[in-house]
Amino acid sequence: MMDKYQLYERSVQSPSAHLSCFLSIYQDIYHSEPRRLREDFCGTFILSCAWVKRSPRNYAWVVDLDPEPLEYGKKNHWQHLSQPEQKRLSILKRDVLLTTQAKVDLVVACNFSFFIFKERKILLQYFSSCLKSLRNQGVLILEMAGGPGMITSTREQKTVKDQEKFVYIWDQKSFDPITHDAKYSIHFKLANGTQLKNAFNYHWRLWTIPEVRDLLEEAGFKRSIVYWESTLNGEGTGEYVSMEQGDNAYSWIAYIVGVP
Ligand SMILES: C[S@@+](CC[C@H](N)C(=O)[O-])C[C@H]1O[C@@H](n2cnc3c(N)ncnc32)[C@H](O)[C@@H]1O
Repeated sequence: MMDKYQLYERSVQSPSAHLSCFLSIYQDIYHSEPRRLREDFCGTFILSCAWVKRSPRNYAWVVDLDPEPLEYGKKNHWQHLSQPEQKRLSILKRDVLLTTQAKVDLVVACNFSFFIFKERKILLQYFSSCLKSLRNQGVLILEMAGGPGMITSTREQKTVKDQEKFVYIWDQKSFDPITHDAKYSIHFKLANGTQLKNAFNYHWRLWTIPEVRDLLEEAGFKRSIVYWESTLNGEGTGEYVSMEQGDNAYSWIAYIVGVP
């Protein structure tokens, strides 16, 4: 039977799309290529494995508190890397709030994971700590989601068809307009009828972009840039461009970038 991490990766992760997006953001800001990546809230760190495979000059540090996804990543991704690639990837089982000694070009927090920090002072601590781990020409890239489509109680499902078929269900359970606390779950239905209910559960605070930008400034970032998805005939293109005003999309994903 497929593991819940395998189901998750196949449903929501696309390392090559994420990496292309991060490279183009870095290129846009510094007109050069980043080499040292820190992947925060890395889970099974499929992204960083793809990163070290891309070039012998690429290094990665992956950070997560939970040994379970880290172990899955080791067995299923890291073990398939060549020895030199393995040496260029460091696995850190620790809190992302702690500063890492290695200074990097990119710190990335994908799939809205930093929404786990609900208190302003803790999010500020996270941003300050990221800033200390960045090189002069570094960036912190925060993937955010929002819009009315993220707060209505709803379930969305899609059938994932490559290899073994299964159904992925994104369940928006609750949203509190006073605290912005939001609860989401992921369920899976396998082809043999097996159901994995609440395979992943998220208790987040749905931060807004201006709140995050204010906190980046307070943490000491010189500027922040919002990369918003460009549209063509009302449809998202999958390309992100820096913008100071966005369209009022029903649901959106954006990258908020802190520049030291
Ligand atoms: C939604 S998963 C992200 C998986 C993957 N990075 C992605 O983009 O899809 C969130 C991960 O953050 C980890 N996590 C939560 N709080 C953390 C913290 N304070 N420090 C390090 N990792 C944390 C959890 O263990 C979990 O693996």
